[in-house]
Parts: sequence; C-alpha cells; structure tokens
Amino acid sequence: MERTQENGTLRLADVGKRVHLVGWIANRRILGGIAFLDLRDRSGIVQLLVRDINAIPDVRNEYVVSVAGVVRAKENPNPKLATGEIEVEVERLEVLSKAITTPFIIADETDALEDTRLQYRYLDLRRPILQKRLRTRAQLMRITREYFDGEGFTEIETPILNLATPEGARDYLVPSRVKNGSFYALPQSPQLFKQLLMIGGIERYYQIAKCFRDEDLRADRQPEFTQIDVETSFLDQDQILTLCEGLLKRYFKEILNIEIETPLRRLNYWDAMETYGSDKPDTRFDLKLVDVAETMKKSSFEAFQSTPYIRALVVPHYAEKATRKVLDELTAEARKFRLRGLTALKYVNGALEGSFLKFMDEAVRQELIAKLNLSDGDYVLIAAHAERRPVCFGLGALRTRLAKELNLIPENSYDLLWVVNFPMFDPVDDQPGVYSAEHHPFTRPRDEDLQYLDSDPERVLAYAYDIVINGYEAGGGTLRIYDHDTQWKIFRLLGLSEEDVARKFGWFVDAFQYGVPPHGGFALGLDRLTMIFTGTDNIRDVIAFPKNLQATDPMSHAPMPVGKEALDAVGIEVKKN
Ligand code: AMO
Repeated sequence: MERTQENGTLRLADVGKRVHLVGWIANRRILGGIAFLDLRDRSGIVQLLVRDINAIPDVRNEYVVSVAGVVRAKENPNPKLATGEIEVEVERLEVLSKAITTPFIIADETDALEDTRLQYRYLDLRRPILQKRLRTRAQLMRITREYFDGEGFTEIETPILNLATPEGARDYLVPSRVKNGSFYALPQSPQLFKQLLMIGGIERYYQIAKCFRDEDLRADRQPEFTQIDVETSFLDQDQILTLCEGLLKRYFKEILNIEIETPLRRLNYWDAMETYGSDKPDTRFDLKLVDVAETMKKSSFEAFQSTPYIRALVVPHYAEKATRKVLDELTAEARKFRLRGLTALKYVNGALEGSFLKFMDEAVRQELIAKLNLSDGDYVLIAAHAERRPVCFGLGALRTRLAKELNLIPENSYDLLWVVNFPMFDPVDDQPGVYSAEHHPFTRPRDEDLQYLDSDPERVLAYAYDIVINGYEAGGGTLRIYDHDTQWKIFRLLGLSEEDVARKFGWFVDAFQYGVPPHGGFALGLDRLTMIFTGTDNIRDVIAFPKNLQATDPMSHAPMPVGKEALDAVGIEVKKN
C-alpha cells in the first residue's frame, strides 16, 4: 500500500476520497463493536472509524499501522482537531509494527518526569509540540544559510579536536592515543579559528558550529550547544550590528510574521546595569532601580555613610504580600550576588513602615518617598555595597524574579535591544588590581579609552555588544585587537606572562605578525533563539537529544566508565575515590 496523503492534511474537501494512510495509533476507543482510532503521523492526527472491530487485527496504542479507507464527513465535528470535520472509514488495516505499553502517554500535555521523557526521548519526540520546535530550529538554520549566502559569506567548518579556546568555561578534554598524556580540548567556540580565517583573507565567514563548555547547567545552558558564528574583516561595529539585525529581521518576519524596527535600541552596559540591574535586561516590564545613595547617607545607619553604591527597587502592590518569609527568600537570593542583606520598607496609608525607620528621621523619610515617587501598597527593597556590580546584579535578579511572580511580563511580546560598551575588564572579587577579561583577551578596547589602560583599567570600555531578546543573551560579539602592542598590553593587564601566552595561544598570536585586517564578529546561540521563537524557557525542549542538569544523557547513560584496554591505549589510569 502506498501512502496517498499525510494524516493531518485531510479536510472536508477530501470527503469521498479513497486514501492510504500510515502512522502510529495515538488512541483507541471501542463502543459496541465499533472502534475509533486516532492515527498520528508527523503532520497531525486523523480519526479512523472501524465499523467491525473483529474485521481488523488487534491494535493498541503506538502500534504502527497502514490503513486503506474512505474519507467521510463526521456527524459531530471535533473543533479541537484540524481534521475534526472528517474521519476515515477503514476498509483494510495492516499492523506494520507492534509496541509494548509506553512509559508515558504521548501527547502535548504530559506530567511525565523530564528524566523519564529523556530516557525514552524517541517516544517523547513523537509529541507534536516537540516536533514543531525542532522544525522551527531547522527553519532558523535554513534562514541563516540563505541570509549569509546572500551576503557573500562562506560557510567554513573549524576543528572539533584542538586546543583550549579562551571563553572562560572549563574544557571538555579528549585524550590522545598517539601522544599519551596529551589532550585535545573540544572548542568552547570557534573564536581563534575564525580570527585566523580573517588573517587568512576569507573576509566573510559563518558557521553553524557545535560548541562545548563544561559549566554549571541552567535552564538556558547545555554542555553541548550550537552557535551561529560569524566573523568579518574591514567592517566597523555599526556595520556588524546592522548585519546581525538584518538576520534577526528575517527570522522574525519568516517565523512569526513580525516586522522588527531597525536599528534596534542600544543601551550602554552601565546604563543597563544601573536601570535594570542586568547586562541582559528584559525591558518588557518597567520595574527600575533608583539610586538612593544621597538620601540613605542622610540616615543615621552608620554602615551606609561609607557605602558608595545604594540602590532601591520599588515593587508596586507588594507591601501586603511581602511577609517576613518572603523577605527571607529575597535576601537569600540577594546573597548569591555578594549582598549581605536587604533593607525593606513598606509604604502603607501614606507612611513608611519597617524596622529600618529608626535610622530615618522625618525629613529623610519624606525625601525617600519623593525620590521613589511611592504609591500606597509599594514595597521598597534597598541594597548597598562597596562595589557597583553586586548591588546592580542583586537587585536585577530580584527584579526579574518578582516580575515573574507578579505576572508583569506581557506574553507573546518581543523586546530586542543591544547592550554595548561593555567594560574591557572584570575585577576579580576581593582581589584589588586583578582583572579577568569581560569577554575574551582578544577584544578591542575603544580607541578613546586606550589612554586609560595603564592609569584606570576599570574605566576602559570595549567594542563589545550583546543582543538581548526578552531578557536572554541571545548572542554577542566584539571587534578584535589587530595591533600587536595593544594585544600585549591586554595580556599583561590580565596577568598573562609571555610564557603563559606562548603556552596557551602562542600559535595563534604568532599569526598576528603577518598582516592582520581589522576584524570582528559575533555568535548567536541557536538553542536560545529557538527557545525564544518557540516560547519555551527550557533549552532541553529545543534539542533533539539533550543532556539533563547533571550533564548526563538518561537514555544512553553517557558519560560511562570505559574498560581498562581503552584507558591503557590513551595512557590513563582512573583514580579510585
Ligand atoms: P559567547 O560566549 O557570548 O561568545 O557565546 C555566544 C552565545 O552562545 C550562547 N551560549 C550558550 N547557549 C547554550 N548553552 C551554553 N552553555 C551557552 N554558552 C553560550 C549564548 C551566547 O550569547 N566567541 C564568542 C563570540 C564572538 O565574540 O564572536 C562567544 O562564544 O546565546
């Protein structure tokens, strides 16, 4: 029997047609000798009507069958189903493959545990919602290729087995059999190779690249993920942002039929931090941080007198809900960002309430009320720290958490912006004068800030930009250093000695002696884009075979110990704990 049509495509216009269909039995109901079977394929579900159950072989859920029959109009249409106005009266049914009882019911709505779904991912993949997400992912890849091909880019693959790339996470290592004791590192990104492609004169490169990072997993992080990776020569920052915006415009138009207004808004890193407490702000809701240092210094609370950074977050209509327990939870969250505690005040019936009021005289209270423009029922959280980042990140995390809790985020709305002018350096916690690279050591400082490299490194901003969509860092990039002296200055500021550089990426730095074009690029997270375009907040929903939060695969049980022979071949002995 040759398939004539996909199940989900049948409509009233097909009534009277003789069809051959295939698929999985999604459901089976028997009423007085008559069977109603739902037949599922990748296109959807159609109802089969079997007038005499004894005339067909026994079928159960998830059996694969092939049927011949005639399309009929249904007496009682099912408005929930695209094919709900018709059914197929079965003349012949053949079982192609039997199935044992599945560990969970296969439907979009499921209460199966995620690890069970991942253990039987091939069954989970039968759920239409998952297939739809994978199709959106494929659509993003297709649009990407069409776009860059149209812009004259060359897709080039870079090695998976090589040395460490400096993206800041831990590497996945692969032992060498030929050179025992030596290891390849899986790429955290194609960063170094794409820069070498520019030195190699390619000018316009892109790749849909697999990247590997051994870091703590979260809802939007996988150990193995995919980047849409781009590098260009001779373009300035604006031209690169425009190039990326062109691609985003296409995604939104083709996938969601939404016109994105470009150029997108650009927020300075420190403005984003000061206003939203985040370098990836979700600006779909309004809660903003307010600088209250001047006012709070006028309180009699001694610690505030010498604290430079004091910011407040006002949560509307929250005074009543904010019990002691709520404040304890918020404080626990704030502590993750190195804040010692939170000061909480309520504004009720035209007056402030809270134990901190003993440190505030009437004038200070009135000043705070005016500064924060308080309304009845407002809840005020105040954070203070000697450094700016903990205050901003701490309150920013509370801002996002409370917005979710209070349903302040409008659904199905899209908020795109660039965060630009990132600092070049990130001070290492509690180690004055020690810096790590905010992006990576090859990021180019802004021309106008080169003068501060020696005197005030923290003031130096970089040609670095992140694209933020609905509070997700969907991608980011930088212009790269192409001049030898600046590069070495940065290495020194990052505490890298000549030996360090030679050992870690001497092979890469050597290439910079041979004529380097000004270059720069970016990488978008394909998985995160797919999350945004399919409306899920779980990255595992957009990857066919993802790892769980323990970075293991509940289906294959990878990673697994290997036998002695395999270990001997690569010269490795496993320590017994
Ligand atoms: P970056 O490290 O910012 O930049 O990564 C680019 C984008 O990749 C996505 N991403 C991830 N997605 C899922 N799981 C992860 N573990 C993960 N880590 C990162 C994010 C992020 O914005 N080489 C530079 C780019 C450049 O400078 O051109 C880089 O890798 O969406």
